[in-house]
Amino acid sequence: MRIEPIGIIHSTFKNRKDTPIQPFRSNKIGRVEVCKKFRDGLKDIVGFSHIILIYKFHKSRGWRLLVKPFLDDQLHGVFSTRSPRRPNQIGISVVRLLRRKGNVLFVKGIDVIDGTPLLDIKPYVPEFSSAFKVRIGWLTNKISKKKVR
Ligand SMILES: C[S@@+](CC[C@H](N)C(=O)[O-])C[C@H]1O[C@@H](n2cnc3c(N)ncnc32)[C@H](O)[C@@H]1O
Repeated sequence: MRIEPIGIIHSTFKNRKDTPIQPFRSNKIGRVEVCKKFRDGLKDIVGFSHIILIYKFHKSRGWRLLVKPFLDDQLHGVFSTRSPRRPNQIGISVVRLLRRKGNVLFVKGIDVIDGTPLLDIKPYVPEFSSAFKVRIGWLTNKISKKKVR
């Protein structure tokens, strides 16, 4: 399998430790620069308030099956977490789309390091992604929406 990045995500974050752990904890604006050859694929994107960024955690070194995630001090299976130290190093972020300028999208709520390779973009559509009667396992009572860094 070969996957070619479709662009680069630019942010103000230069290292892992200073980067917010999820979009809901970030009010930072980022620039999603799509390669010029994929630019026409952005047609109609501005009609969406939110988009899903799919990208590679390119600064992750290796992976573990058991990880201590940001919001806990207990070990959890990596697939029960959003840890960047995962086998295929793939991350997803739902961010607010502010505007488009040519092949660049300006987004709010960025939680990735500057230079992160972009693999795909999809529109966020609640009807396609929402689930009902959701349980959130070990994350129950661990999420506070107050903190934004
Ligand atoms: C917990 S992950 C969550 C990312 C994404 N929202 C998700 O759920 O897949 C976010 C953390 O990954 C790390 N990170 C961000 N960009 C990265 C990159 N390009 N390479 C390695 N680690 C990265 C930072 O430490 C950041 O706080």
